[in-house]
Amino acid sequence: FYTEEQTEDYLFKIVLIGDSAVGKSNLLARFARDEFYPNSKSTIGVEFQTQKIDIKGKEVKAQIWDTAGQERFRAVTSAYYRGAVGALVVYDVSRRQTFDSIGRWLNELQTYSDMNVVTILVGNKSDLKDAREVTTAEGKSLAEAQGLFFIETSALDSSNVAAAFQTVVKEIY
Ligand code: GTP
Ligand code: MG
Repeated sequence: FYTEEQTEDYLFKIVLIGDSAVGKSNLLARFARDEFYPNSKSTIGVEFQTQKIDIKGKEVKAQIWDTAGQERFRAVTSAYYRGAVGALVVYDVSRRQTFDSIGRWLNELQTYSDMNVVTILVGNKSDLKDAREVTTAEGKSLAEAQGLFFIETSALDSSNVAAAFQTVVKEIY
């Protein structure tokens, strides 16, 4: 029977996608372990971490999947997206090329995901103020046009990292 203490187990699969070196693995490391790697290597294959997220006093579990941005290091694409209910599509605000790739990542997400995936566009490396190549307004406007949530983050200084994941989980929940 039901008890007050009983917590329901919600497990949501969330995928990280975006070009190589935009900071996907560091966003996950910052969020899950509060760590940052200044010289992290490209991800090979797939990694995932399960992280508890508190949504209005309820504990929700997110299984966050991280893979390589580089084609040659990626595992079977369909398996990566299977069952995903949330996605963080990441670019690097200091490299316009990674912003130009967003359309391609959204196409892939649409092709391989089997349901409506709650998606947030994430402009990472907001700490690199002097090297910025993509304005906040440009990010916002793309997100609006594509019907996505939008946030700028820094895995280095931690800003908005938890908020990026929480926004997605809150909407799914
Ligand atoms: P792949 O695994 O190859 O797809 O790359 P990735 O998207 O996982 O990038 P990763 O997290 O490995 O980060 C690439 C580089 O960017 C590393 O040197 C990080 O230290 C750096 N980096 C990641 N996030 C930030 C950030 O918010 N600010 C700054 N300044 N550097 C960052
Ligand atoms: Mg990586």
